[in-house]
Formats: sequence, C-alpha cells, structure tokens
Amino acid sequence: MTNLIDLRSDTLTRPTPDMRTAMARAEVGDDVYGEDPTVRALEERVAGLFGHEDALFTPTGSMANVLAVRTLVGPGEEVLCESSAHIARAELGAHAAYTGLTMRTWSHPRGGVDLPAVERMFAPDMGPFFVRTKAVSVENTHNFAGGTVLTLADLDALHAFTTAQGVGLHVDGARIWNAHVATGTPLSAYGARAEVMAVCLSKGLGAPVGSLVVGSAEAMAESRVWRKRMGGGMRQVGILAAAGLHALDHHVERLAEDHEHARLLAEACGVDPEQVETNIVVLERSDAAELVEAASAEGIRISTVGPRTVRLVTHLGIDREDAQRAATVLAKLTS
Ligand SMILES: Cc1ncc(COP(=O)(O)O)c(C=O)c1O
Repeated sequence: MTNLIDLRSDTLTRPTPDMRTAMARAEVGDDVYGEDPTVRALEERVAGLFGHEDALFTPTGSMANVLAVRTLVGPGEEVLCESSAHIARAELGAHAAYTGLTMRTWSHPRGGVDLPAVERMFAPDMGPFFVRTKAVSVENTHNFAGGTVLTLADLDALHAFTTAQGVGLHVDGARIWNAHVATGTPLSAYGARAEVMAVCLSKGLGAPVGSLVVGSAEAMAESRVWRKRMGGGMRQVGILAAAGLHALDHHVERLAEDHEHARLLAEACGVDPEQVETNIVVLERSDAAELVEAASAEGIRISTVGPRTVRLVTHLGIDREDAQRAATVLAKLTS
C-alpha cells in the first residue's frame, strides 16, 4: 500500500523534527502574566514584519479574526466582506455570536474587491435608521476562491476609500505568506494597507497551532483582554510560539514549491495553471462527491467545499513525487 496523499488542507501538516526540537527547547513563562519570552519574541517579530506596532498570539485564525474585526466594529454595527470570505462562511457565526455585529457581502468570482459594490453598500452613520458600516474586510489569499491573491492596486483603492470614510480595513491574512511569496510583495506593503490583520502560522507555514492579530498597540491591548475573556489566555505557550518562529525562519520561501505543485495538479485536472496563483486548486464538478470518493480509493484525499466544488491544497507534507503521483491519478479521474 502506497502512502496516502492528503490534499484536503494545508492545516494537515505535522511539525517537522527540527520544529519539534525548537519547541522542546523553547524558553517559556506564563503568557497571561506577559512573561513568556518566546511568545513575546514572536509577537514582536510578526508586528515588525507587517510594520505595525504590536501583535497578539492566538490559538486559532478564527479567534484572531474575531478579535481583529471587533477592534473596528461593535455590537449592532456592520462589516462588509466578500460572500465566500472565511469570516462570513466558515467561522460559524462567531462574529455575530461574540461581537454582535452584522455583515453584508458582495460577490466576486475570484474573491476579490468590487469597489463599486463596496461604495454602493457603504452606510455612513444615519442615526436610528440604518446599520452603520464600520469596517471592510478582505481575505488574502482567498481560500474558497482558490488561493487567489489581491493586487496591491485593489488594496490601495479600497484602503483609500475606507480611510476617506473614516472606517477600518481588516485583512484576513491566514495565507498572506503565500501572497507574499507568489508576488514578491513585501509583507510590510500588505501591512501598510490594513488597520488590523489576522495571520496564521498553522496553514502553509506548518506550525501545529497559532495565529496572530496584528495592529496598533491600543487595539492589541484591547484584544488581549478579549482573548482572555473568550478563554484564549494560554500559559507556557512559548512551546507553540517556538514552532511559529521556526516556521518563519524555514518555511516561508519554500511555499513557492507548494505553488508549483498546485499548478501541476491544476494542469492534470484540466484547470488553466495560470489561474492558480498559490497553493489551492478549485475544481467545479457536477460529480464532486464521486470524484472525492474515487480519488480516495486511489489513496488521494481531496475534499468538497460546496456541492459542486472540489478543493485541492498543497503543503509542506506534499513533495514533488506526491504531487506527481496525485496528478497522474487525478488526470485519469477527471479526463
Ligand atoms: C482564510 C482563512 N481564515 C481563517 C481561517 C481560520 O483558521 P483556524 O482554522 O485556525 O481557526 C482559515 C482556516 O482555514 C482560513 O482559511
């Protein structure tokens, strides 16, 4: 029996032996007391990478998004986002349940910015008549749209609009590292176009746990309180932060390999590889469930993210040989 090749998600990676060594050696303290030096080092490093004042370590990207968006939007106020954004679709209503905010959405085939739609939807303060828009949120790269990257020109135009309206821009940057590697755009350039971001270490970077909120010192202080309130105050968590620091040292540039493997898979499945910008391939198939089952029978795990949508994700645990074997199997099943 050959090894199973798991392309369901880039969250499936397991810590490498070197990452485990770094975790075992981490200096730790009680992070709720602010005394974990490894967590602090990670927070300062990530804040610096994006050119923001501070960052806050969280157990999950979902919690980082909830904390980030709530620094901009309060109960009874709204955030605008794309209709298949992770915050709208896949956080199980957390923003409504915890913050009490509402969302309105625009749709874009590649998960991108539709500025005219945002301008049309935007609701300024009208007193006791309409829900007030307090933020716009975008996802870079966009998961369900197939790892698509937002252009700096689109971000610039959107940020100019939100700034002119006096509201904030939130970026769900769970895979911002992939956007950075795919385009060569400095992380600081992404940071300069957002008031607050959420970034993940537990996706393509291969850490077992961990995300960060990135923003102003004031927003992070507020988020620290809310993190504890939500049950996310962790103690000797430097063990996990060490995995994140290791990932930043060793697993960012290698994302280019994942992108290459994704293009290989796309081509095998009849998707234009030029449309695949990072590590996610989305296939629109009327036989989505059957394809997943047939691939599984051949040792290739893929998943559906909609009734007719199949997703393949490349990651640290997939080498060239795996990608080639998966491509051969999927070419046969999709032809
Ligand atoms: C774009 C995006 N944002 C946020 C998250 C949430 O991360 P977590 O699973 O750590 O809560 C994910 C998870 O896959 C994601 O794809």
